[in-house]
Amino acid sequence: MSRVEREILEKHGIDMNVLMEKLRKAAASELLTYYYYTLIRYNLAGPDAEAAKEIAEDARLEDRCHFEILVQRIYELGGELYNTLRELEEDAGCKSPYLPENRDTKSLLKVLLDAERCAERIYHDLCDYTFGKDPVTYDYSLAILHEEVEHEAWFEELLDMGKSGHFRRRYPGESPFTKKFRHIEKD
Ligand SMILES: [Fe+2]
Ligand SMILES: [Fe+2]
Repeated sequence: MSRVEREILEKHGIDMNVLMEKLRKAAASELLTYYYYTLIRYNLAGPDAEAAKEIAEDARLEDRCHFEILVQRIYELGGELYNTLRELEEDAGCKSPYLPENRDTKSLLKVLLDAERCAERIYHDLCDYTFGKDPVTYDYSLAILHEEVEHEAWFEELLDMGKSGHFRRRYPGESPFTKKFRHIEKD
């Protein structure tokens, strides 16, 4: 834990309990997303699912990267993750994704789209709360938000709701905006 960091943030008007709650809820949502995207990714099958598979895999791995970045910040600031996965699921900032009964590509993509939309709200809120007060969390949140906006647009495109400007990542889960914060995996 960085005591000086905490002290400075509090001086800048950050309520540490509020910030920690936001970070934990965001981390919980990312881990749930990673888990359910794994299920969905393996259920995307058939000739119409090839493009969706690759995009779901990128979003899945990038959301795992988001989880790891948030965990780093939580411990840096003296917080802790949930003791059990049950607590994590109950406290997540977004309603958990799920594997829908109907496993056609469209139904699976709809679950992914809803999860991305909720994630965007979480990071807008974190950016608003930390702007001008907590540059590190702001920087993380903004980088994550860039990727969530992309994820949403990709799934919208696959659902015929508009164009995303999507171009294939250089490798699965590249995380172009957040990879600089990853401590374990490097290019
Ligand atoms: Fe994410
Ligand atoms: Fe995402």
